[in-house]
Amino acid sequence: MRGFLATLGTVAALAGSVLGQSDSTKYVDAETGFTFSQYVNDKGIAFRVAVPATAKANDNYEAVVQIAVPISVGWAGLAWGGSMTYNPLTIVWANGKDVVVSSRMAYGYFVPPAYDGAVYKVLKTGTHVNATHYQVTATCVGCTLWGDTDTGITAIDPTAQGTLAFAYAAAPVTAPANNASTFSIHDLIGHWIHDFSVASNADFNATVAKNQ
Ligand code: HEM
Ligand SMILES: *[C@@H]1O[C@H](CO)[C@@H](O)[C@H](O)[C@H]1NC(C)=O
Ligand SMILES: *[C@@H]1O[C@H](CO)[C@@H](O)[C@H](O)[C@H]1NC(C)=O
Ligand SMILES: *[C@@H]1O[C@H](CO)[C@@H](O)[C@H](O)[C@H]1NC(C)=O
Repeated sequence: MRGFLATLGTVAALAGSVLGQSDSTKYVDAETGFTFSQYVNDKGIAFRVAVPATAKANDNYEAVVQIAVPISVGWAGLAWGGSMTYNPLTIVWANGKDVVVSSRMAYGYFVPPAYDGAVYKVLKTGTHVNATHYQVTATCVGCTLWGDTDTGITAIDPTAQGTLAFAYAAAPVTAPANNASTFSIHDLIGHWIHDFSVASNADFNATVAKNQ
């Protein structure tokens, strides 16, 4: 019996790797109606991305980002290019019963300054603070293509897998009401393979509109 179960386990693991070694899974959010690809890290922070079915690679298409964070976490960040520097960073934290989204880009290993190349619109539905978590759902224009001729242009292919990264710290940010607040260095960072192809939304614009 033991040997039989062990064999089954091996087969399942192999099948998983044949399917593409993505660390994310498809997540349909009943509250907003978006279909996301989500990655949940060891701290229980969920990073979710939804893309329009019409999105094309190398086009600066709008995406929806949803981040759900245990209330004990001071700030959590998503790096759209999978590294700390030279890619859009979506940083979120709680401010009492509100959630703040801050657009940043790091140009070195120090507090990332504001980045106006990405513009967020927080959606009312899917954004809340409760006893255990804070969660934000926002559209982003500028999160799927970035860079310039000096640093090179990078884009997220909505039909493929890509590397994303996270960072978080337990310490609260310095001025929670201010989206330009400074904050202290991460307690932990991580990288993962995110499968954008399962995050396609046929009625993307209508779903954005109904959650506004
Ligand atoms: C006060 C703000 C921050 C400081 C001082 C800081 C500092 C650093 C330092 C010194 C490293 C290098 C660690 C090593 O090589 O061992 C690092 C790595 C890293 N940081 Fe930050 N960081 C900050 C904010 C952020 C934010 C907001 C993110 C966003 C998600 C982030 C994501 C990462 C990642 C993913 C790495 C791993 C290396 C890489 O993939 O680029 N950091 N950070
Ligand atoms: C802060 O919010 C303002 C108003 O919405 C916005 O223009 C600005 O880009 C935001 N700054 C950051 C760092 O997110
Ligand atoms: C609190 O928010 C989290 C994250 O959005 C959610 O998973 C959880 O179900 C919520 N708890 C309650 C009691 O609604
Ligand atoms: C969705 O809205 C954006 C503007 O916000 C527009 O560029 C795009 O063409 C729309 N997509 C569809 C399928 O209508």
